Amino acid sequence: MRQSSLVVMANRLPVDDSVAPDGACEWRRSPGGLVSALHPLLKHTPATWIGWAGGTGPAPALPDVDGVRLHTVPLTPEDFRDHYEGFANATLWPLYHDAVEQPEHHRRWWEAYQRVNRRFAEAAAAVTEPGGVVWVQDYHLQLVPALLRDLRPDLRIGFFLHVPFPPPELFMQLPRRAELLRGILGADLVGFQRAHAAHNFAQLVAKVIGVPATDRQVEVDGRTVRVGAFPVSIDTAEMAALAARPDVVARADRLRNDLGDPEHVILSVDRMDYTKGIEQRLKAYSELIASGDVKVQDTVMVQVAVPSRERVGQYQILRDRVEREVGRINGEFGRVGEPAIHYLTQPFDRAELAALYRMADVLAVTPLRDGMNLVAKEYVAARVDDSGTLLLSEFAGAAAELSQAYLVNPHDLEGLKQGLLAALQADPADAAARMRAMREHLHRYDIRSWARSYLSALDENGSLLHEMITD
Ligand code: ADP
Ligand code: F6P
Repeated sequence: MRQSSLVVMANRLPVDDSVAPDGACEWRRSPGGLVSALHPLLKHTPATWIGWAGGTGPAPALPDVDGVRLHTVPLTPEDFRDHYEGFANATLWPLYHDAVEQPEHHRRWWEAYQRVNRRFAEAAAAVTEPGGVVWVQDYHLQLVPALLRDLRPDLRIGFFLHVPFPPPELFMQLPRRAELLRGILGADLVGFQRAHAAHNFAQLVAKVIGVPATDRQVEVDGRTVRVGAFPVSIDTAEMAALAARPDVVARADRLRNDLGDPEHVILSVDRMDYTKGIEQRLKAYSELIASGDVKVQDTVMVQVAVPSRERVGQYQILRDRVEREVGRINGEFGRVGEPAIHYLTQPFDRAELAALYRMADVLAVTPLRDGMNLVAKEYVAARVDDSGTLLLSEFAGAAAELSQAYLVNPHDLEGLKQGLLAALQADPADAAARMRAMREHLHRYDIRSWARSYLSALDENGSLLHEMITD
């Protein structure tokens, strides 16, 4: 078996075996921010990416993608139901996002989570060179660090959580809270998006495990586990280059033309997820139209909401409600050939997304809670002429960095409406100054700077890793 000195492990591989319209298996880029972050970083490096390929049944042998070796971990239909849809996305996901939906607890889901984590740990043990580095990503795999340490004590093990880490009073609801914390503590470095997540983790470790813990390090089993905040980012230069391409600029113009050349275009791009605040945003928009503050004749909203986790009950309910509300708003306020909201559920390629970003005057990103939100960063990177305004929730990790955005509390309907109006009516010079400052920030703190800061903290003498993650 081929081995690598750097192994990255995530629930998902960068490709997903979607089913084509004719029923054939079709490999497509996987959805979500984790793949958007890691794929540009790892392509053309000798790293191995361990993950699940999106289906159930035996693991398909996949060719390298952009030079990255892919190692597939299979999930059975029961693993998919109980590990992915169950423990990961119906217990941990809602709990880690402020319990905006009720987390469910089932013993069978926990068993599946353990079983799948063990399978991932065994895969990493098999494909990592002696003394190599394994970088474990996200909430699906929190038991892997400790399991892998038992199997391969020679490795450096990192863990990074892409989603928020909840305050102690929420985490304490988990029946298996101690096992989860012990799993993460198998790592040498535990990374979070934000400093307060590291603080929550330290408090919990001290309380539940009873060992010395600060926001920077934990002493456990005779080892020091380092803890820190490493806000994830995007390939800023790549998005800026894409958005500046003449065909993308032309496509943005055509899209705007197809919308009837309105004075204002508001765009939102989300996975269809109850954490993203889609319903609250639609309500705010609908009230602004009803009050006459926004006129359908000169303002158009484009809502892209790609379906996600479609068999999980809470996601089905959300999709039904969003679609009913979009229908209601269009029925009530649209005119023939002039809908108030253009609603799209398709996945787009990167060039089409860049064109959408270039076309929009306002990007409305208003999650109730979000680890980071890379869509917000992509929009800023795409505004190469410094035009456009970003309406951003205070509860997105990105708000800590993009402080020049129009920040709103999405739970406050009146505040959300005022924020939307302010973003629509922004003074162009002020908007340009804000956008410039945010773009400069993202050119400095891009995905490579994230990886460099994390990997150099994980592997102090890791010159090899620096060479791998080149500029
Ligand atoms: P999350 O990880 O919760 O999905 P993020 O905002 O961090 O949220 O990341 C979403 C990623 O998915 C972004 O990189 C965005 O460009 C991509 N994306 C969102 N919607 C679509 C779509 N319809 N087609 C293609 N990519 C999409
Ligand atoms: O970080 C959030 C996350 O769960 C990522 O792991 C993933 O990129 C994204 O959301 C999409 O979710 P899923 O893999 O369940 O489709």
